Amino acid sequence: MHRALKAALALLCLAALAASTPWMTSSSSYAQNLSDIIHRIQQLNRRAQVPCNDTRVAQVAFMDRKLPEQELLCQAATVLAKVTRCKKDYEPLITSLQSLHNKMSCSLSTDNEIYLRNFLPALGNFTQALYQRIPPKAAK
Ligand SMILES: *[C@@H]1O[C@H](CO)[C@@H](O)[C@H](O)[C@H]1NC(C)=O
Ligand SMILES: *[C@@H]1O[C@H](CO)[C@@H](O)[C@H](O)[C@H]1NC(C)=O
Ligand SMILES: *[C@@H]1O[C@H](CO)[C@@H](O)[C@H](O)[C@H]1NC(C)=O
Repeated sequence: MHRALKAALALLCLAALAASTPWMTSSSSYAQNLSDIIHRIQQLNRRAQVPCNDTRVAQVAFMDRKLPEQELLCQAATVLAKVTRCKKDYEPLITSLQSLHNKMSCSLSTDNEIYLRNFLPALGNFTQALYQRIPPKAAK
């Protein structure tokens, strides 16, 4: 009886482990990708002038908690993709942002525009907040 209970418990643990593995894998790759994005934004912001600093881009409502983060990440990628004059500077960042959202398209309002030099710090803020929201175990 005791042995059977032990075996059952072991099985249960194994099942729990198996169930949690895919989640762990995908969420640590999420953390990895996010930290890659944060690093790229920091590198751009550290330059004397961000590439195409004077370009006007659509504002993204990063502070709007009602919008899903996937939507905001998609909008950010769309905004940067429109900065064609500095395509090569932003391409790696755009690719990383796209890897984090599985949506193919998102809608973007161009009612409000800001300078790219102000957009990048806001995007940096947003991505860092996302990173801080990852449970510590998964971020490891
Ligand atoms: C992380 O990035 C890789 C390569 O771009 C991508 O294949 C993968 O789906 C991304 N993972 C997550 C969780 O976004
Ligand atoms: C934008 O960058 C250019 C040089 O790349 C610089 O001459 C200009 O002053 C910058 N504009 C602002 C508002 O920082
Ligand atoms: C970044 O976040 C801090 C703290 O929430 C805020 O004070 C600051 O204005 C933000 N900066 C940008 C560029 O959004």
